Amino acid sequence: MADKELISPPPNAASPEATCPKLEQMVSNMISQDFKKDYVVSVLGTAVFERLGLGEDWSIFESEMRFDDSQYVSVLSILNEALDALSLQRLDEEFGNFYTVFMRVVLSIDMIHDKRLQVVITNYFSSRFPGSNIEFIQKGSGRQFGCTAHIAFEGGPERARKYYVKTHSAGRFLSCISAPKAVDVKELMVYKILEKLGVGCESHFFHRSPQDVYIATLDASHGGSFKEFIAAAGDLYNRGDEEYGRTLWGGLNVISGDRRRHNREQIEECIREDSIANNFVTQIVILDMLSHILRLTDLLNNTGNFGFVFESETSLPKLKVIDFLIGDDNRFVNPSYFLTFVERNGFYRYWYLDRVLRYVLLDRAVNERVQSAIQVLTVGPLCGLLDCIDSALTDVEAYVKTTELFVDKDSLCRSLKEYHEAIRQNYAYFVDSLTAWMPVNSKK
Ligand SMILES: Nc1ncnc2c1ncn2[C@@H]1O[C@H](COP(=O)(O)OP(=O)(O)O)[C@@H](O)[C@H]1O
Ligand SMILES: [Mg+2]
Repeated sequence: MADKELISPPPNAASPEATCPKLEQMVSNMISQDFKKDYVVSVLGTAVFERLGLGEDWSIFESEMRFDDSQYVSVLSILNEALDALSLQRLDEEFGNFYTVFMRVVLSIDMIHDKRLQVVITNYFSSRFPGSNIEFIQKGSGRQFGCTAHIAFEGGPERARKYYVKTHSAGRFLSCISAPKAVDVKELMVYKILEKLGVGCESHFFHRSPQDVYIATLDASHGGSFKEFIAAAGDLYNRGDEEYGRTLWGGLNVISGDRRRHNREQIEECIREDSIANNFVTQIVILDMLSHILRLTDLLNNTGNFGFVFESETSLPKLKVIDFLIGDDNRFVNPSYFLTFVERNGFYRYWYLDRVLRYVLLDRAVNERVQSAIQVLTVGPLCGLLDCIDSALTDVEAYVKTTELFVDKDSLCRSLKEYHEAIRQNYAYFVDSLTAWMPVNSKK
């Protein structure tokens, strides 16, 4: 963050709300003046222009269609790709001039989306935090379009809050020449379930359109210190990361990268006796069980999407999920799925994981994995999962029902209810199957 400048407006700058229409007009003018077909054909050459296959579609640049219409976006994106490729070959001034104008259009469109987002964020948070001042930092990494919003209170630095705001997983990309799809409301429900369990961050939803729905999550470091698991896994190659890993998993550091050298008795004793190791196993089992029951992907396999927070100097590290995807449409867990969970942990590719994660999720004896999962689901941190699922449904249904922009409220609510039913059943299925499961050698 330190290397990024806060995008706070200079004192006399127009508000984002006022800036958007002006920028939109500027982009329309640039397009109508500089994208004349004859001119572009003369710059690119007839053969190259024809290869683009945009002959008839070109008329949209002369039409009233707005630049964020999906057809418009698709033409812009084809042109963008072709011009980027040509820019490696064409060094002449004529091409350079057109390419410069085109890039200005692209950057201006990105800027419009940034400003529009700032408007919706300001509208949403200024009523929740009256008297606050909001500043923005552009999102530098990841795929989804978004930013961070810094909420400050004059004379009250201790009240400051930082929110990570991004669009939903089928939404706009960071490079805004993309046609976003409508939000999958199930994704919002997962954010709420995680929040209610304390595994996710405080989350808020707001929107400009059914496609431009945004999720704001409170900084996982709020009131503590948070690092993504990628650091512990050593993938950042930073000095001190090894030491950080040890603070998460304690004595489990003895686990070797070579599974043939595991001293299972020693490791299991460590899990029983060392409170840090024991806490780590519990946190990872929570993540694993949530992945299976809510059918999440891009989570345990993506060490940038979850991490651990230390709420105080003496507290044990606590899991925080910051990003995920909802997996396939086949949302119900079934007997064959459960068998693969027992044998090799379902469809997740855990064998690529860091040595300690991999031990907990895969290399550990099945009986130990089953016992840990039962403990977490029935008396441990996930014993209240069903209540959280119910309460998340209520929240997201309320969001859908009170949002004018969602015209197909019934079908959105139906999709929420189906998901709600499926994940409740998955929970029950896991609890029942795990409880009934017996190791092969102890079956009669
Ligand atoms: N609530 C949060 N608290 C702390 N860091 C966050 C939070 N949300 C996002 N981040 C940071 O921003 C990065 C990108 O966010 P993410 O939601 O994973 O976006 P993307 O969908 O683009 O991958 C994360 O890897 C993490 O570093
Ligand atoms: Mg991510």
